[in-house]
Amino acid sequence: MNTASMDLRVEQFRGRHVFVAGGSSGINFGIAQAFARAGAKLFVISRSPDKVANAVAALQNLGAEAQGQSADVRQPDTLQAAYNAAVAHFGLIDVLISGAAGNFLAKAMDMSPNAFKTVVDIDLLGSFNVVRAAYEHLRKPGASVVQISAGQASIGTPYQAHVCAAKAGVDMLTRVLALEWGVEGIRINSIAPGPIADTEGLKRLAPDEDALQRMAERVPLQRLGRLDDIARMAMLLCSDWGSYITGAVIPVDGGLALTGPRDFSAAAAATARSRA
Ligand code: COA
Ligand code: NAP
Repeated sequence: MNTASMDLRVEQFRGRHVFVAGGSSGINFGIAQAFARAGAKLFVISRSPDKVANAVAALQNLGAEAQGQSADVRQPDTLQAAYNAAVAHFGLIDVLISGAAGNFLAKAMDMSPNAFKTVVDIDLLGSFNVVRAAYEHLRKPGASVVQISAGQASIGTPYQAHVCAAKAGVDMLTRVLALEWGVEGIRINSIAPGPIADTEGLKRLAPDEDALQRMAERVPLQRLGRLDDIARMAMLLCSDWGSYITGAVIPVDGGLALTGPRDFSAAAAATARSRA
């Protein structure tokens, strides 16, 4: 089966308001594009005004109603302003994707306290800020929240102390909010992507063709993931098909998590050299 040509159109998302935090590039933008093709209205945020403007234009080119705003998930005030703008444009939020994150390879002892804190601030505290500020704007009942986690949440991985700690926290946040928000008809789940081709995240972990090849060979399904692999799971979780799923952490990784921690020592040395 040619999965690249599978149709992502899902009528139930037509006219729905989908808010994507960290939605201006990569996996999260891929999710935004999939919802746009399904007729949803998109609001995207990230730090860079240029990236947001380009993402909004690309979503509009797909025929979607789309808006966006610059906001840093570490700054609750900018988030609140973005939610106010989004709701003014498109009404209550039906789908919230929380995927803003940062990463770099470094041994724990080569991270300053501020280096560790920076990733925790974006990935974990930022995710808390995103879902907390969204709460009053979510459709109740009916809203569905998807947090973008990572395999590092459950697999201790050298050179990734900050991401392991932060994403484990993100998954716990998913579980706790599923318990607290279920009674109001809000579902929340985590997706843990594997290595997704042509993304900034993978470029930082596998910076050259050899590293990418080794990564692909390690995946039980013998290939890197595609943006659509993650977008389809996000749509499934937010659709009627996912209506009895909440508090779940779902790997979409071709089975990679089953193979244990990855060895990033060569990639870390390469990126350390390129930083010097
Ligand atoms: N190794 C060790 N420390 C590093 C580092 C590296 N490769 N890169 C950054 N740091 C440290 C900095 O030295 C600084 O610590 P210090 O103040 O003690 O010197 C701290 O991390 C913060 O760096 P800064 O560049 O000021 O942070 P920022 O908020 O501008 O950017 C990052 C955040 C570092 C995560 C940046 O890479 C980013 O914006 N990433 C977003 C894109 C991304 O990572 N995508 C993949 C998602 S998986
Ligand atoms: P990406 O393109 O760099 O996506 C990160 C997004 O978050 C960008 O839109 C970025 O835009 C935004 N962002 C970063 N810091 C932010 C902040 N402080 N406030 C608001 N927005 C911020 O990288 P990606 O690889 O697609 O990663 C997307 C998600 O997938 C992340 O959660 C990552 O942990 C997860 N993941 C990726 C992989 C992979 O193989 N790529 C694997 C597992 C998990 P700005 O720069 O404009 O802010």
